[in-house]
Amino acid sequence: MRVPFLDLKRIDEELKNALKLRFADMLEEGIFSGGEEVTFLESQISSYLKSTYSIACANGTDALELALRAIGIGYGDEVIVPAMTWVSTAEVVILARAKPVFWDTDEDGLLAADWEKAITAKTKAIIPVHLYGKMVDMGKLMTIAKQYNLHVIEDGAQSFGSFQGGKAAGTFGDVGCLSFYPTKNFGALGEAGMCLTNNQELSERIKLLLNHGQEVRDKHEIVGRNSRIDTIQAGFLNVILEKFGSFQAIRKEYSKRYLLGLSGIEGLKLPKGILEEDHNAHFFVIQTSSRDELRNYLQSQGIGTAIHYPKILPEMKPFRSDGNFINANNLSQRGLSLPLNPWMQAEEIDFVIEKIQEFFKKS
Ligand SMILES: Cc1ncc(COP(=O)(O)O)c(C=O)c1O
Repeated sequence: MRVPFLDLKRIDEELKNALKLRFADMLEEGIFSGGEEVTFLESQISSYLKSTYSIACANGTDALELALRAIGIGYGDEVIVPAMTWVSTAEVVILARAKPVFWDTDEDGLLAADWEKAITAKTKAIIPVHLYGKMVDMGKLMTIAKQYNLHVIEDGAQSFGSFQGGKAAGTFGDVGCLSFYPTKNFGALGEAGMCLTNNQELSERIKLLLNHGQEVRDKHEIVGRNSRIDTIQAGFLNVILEKFGSFQAIRKEYSKRYLLGLSGIEGLKLPKGILEEDHNAHFFVIQTSSRDELRNYLQSQGIGTAIHYPKILPEMKPFRSDGNFINANNLSQRGLSLPLNPWMQAEEIDFVIEKIQEFFKKS
């Protein structure tokens, strides 16, 4: 048996056909930027996530950068960022000419609870990342942020469909940023992203920024850029959204299967809270000190895995920074993402479980 980490060719035939039909319709319609597919996507997501304003854009990185610029983060400002995340989270802070201040995570990769210690007189904002789909405790984070008058930009690139106390990831802070990169649990067939906000002023500014600062055609109010979503991607996302609930149910079912099959193995840490509503099961990340050996073994058995991420940001050349990042570092050395997606068969999950059990019996 060969189990790829993720093979998007496997998208089911029913969905493929629905996407082809929508593509044919869009081709006939001849609208490839803006239009009804985009406004429909924004309204669908607003009602699903209960976000007053949902503004589609070109990708998740842009969503974060637009959020920082709309809020007015700039030169001389500090922004607190977790040490373990995808590079975009810190990249955008530097693009906005501000300084990322890295803080350690907890054992599971979420911003450590003592992040308050990173606050200085220059701190203007914090970007909590709902890593792997598991939400940071937003009640606690918002209380501290309010106390210090900090802006909160949620990096919800991996947490579409996670809710805390019924409130969606991305709707707690000033702006929530989503990515619809193809490998995400709600992914397009190309690049796309979105900003969520309940603040009308911010929503208007984001809309201006992503469309060359134009209020209406040829009326440029501020210096913006082009970060519009492709109509085609919005159209595909509208089709995929119809199946999102059933895809999530499969992710949860397979997560449960992994948890049952892998529990009780000494030296193997399983993801915390993956069956809860504040985890969308985007990634199933296990941790072990023999991560690389396990990964090689699984590879030799035809099983693909991934590492999210092998190096923490403060150790990368463009972001080099001193500090105590022990948990984030441990995770980068020990974390391994197992295959988990709606196009897998239950037998494949069982095969992965069997091979992991075999590895730990041998070692
Ligand atoms: C945590 C995190 N932040 C930001 C991004 C950026 O999203 P995109 O790839 O759509 O630019 C991603 C996705 O790759 C991500 O995982």
